[in-house]
Amino acid sequence: MSPVLHGTATVLRPVRPDDAEVLAEILAEPDVARWWGRYDVERVRSELVAGAGSVVFVIEAEDEVVGSVQYFEEPAVNYRHASIDIFLHPAWHGKGLGTDAVRTMARYLVHDRGHHRLAIDPAVSNLRAIRTYERVGFKAVGVMRSYERDSAGEWHDCLLMDLLGRELQ
Ligand SMILES: CC(C)(COP(=O)(O)OP(=O)(O)OC[C@H]1O[C@@H](n2cnc3c(N)ncnc32)[C@H](O)[C@@H]1OP(=O)(O)O)[C@@H](O)C(=O)NCCC(=O)NCCS
Repeated sequence: MSPVLHGTATVLRPVRPDDAEVLAEILAEPDVARWWGRYDVERVRSELVAGAGSVVFVIEAEDEVVGSVQYFEEPAVNYRHASIDIFLHPAWHGKGLGTDAVRTMARYLVHDRGHHRLAIDPAVSNLRAIRTYERVGFKAVGVMRSYERDSAGEWHDCLLMDLLGRELQ
């Protein structure tokens, strides 16, 4: 069982079955669905609550569930690293919560889970996400061409970014 993680403005706690509906509502917001694709409550239950490999936390701010952050650990020992993904309700965008949640997760993965390297892969057009990850210390590695398919069925480029433990800000 994962611990509850305390950032400056956010609390990250392990997802529970009763979070499924609020997470589906947040994912249905156009400013989130644009980057995450289409999720209904059943997809949230099977992919975020039941978890298929990823470890999922909800993000709380002011005692409210405002989003989710997840990590996935590469199982091959010689390639060991963790990757992170995140979404926040648009009402909470641009207030520093994404930076705080990613930094809190990164500290946990480096200091408690023993990772020397973390990765994250936003769409190249997701400038807000790229800026957020840079603030935490992630650096651009390069563009992965036609890496991700969007809800319209089009493949688009993503930016591979990584962070070494010693670079954590
Ligand atoms: C991406 C996301 C997690 C960022 O969290 P956030 O709380 O909104 O971000 P923060 O307030 O911590 O930081 C945003 C930074 O991006 C900058 N920014 C905002 N919009 C921007 C834009 N269009 N272009 C470039 N930078 C932008 C802000 O100025 C700020 O940087 P600064 O403080 O150095 O000025 C959040 O916006 C989100 O959930 N978006 C929808 C889902 C998503 O895109 N998930 C990521 C998929 S990889």
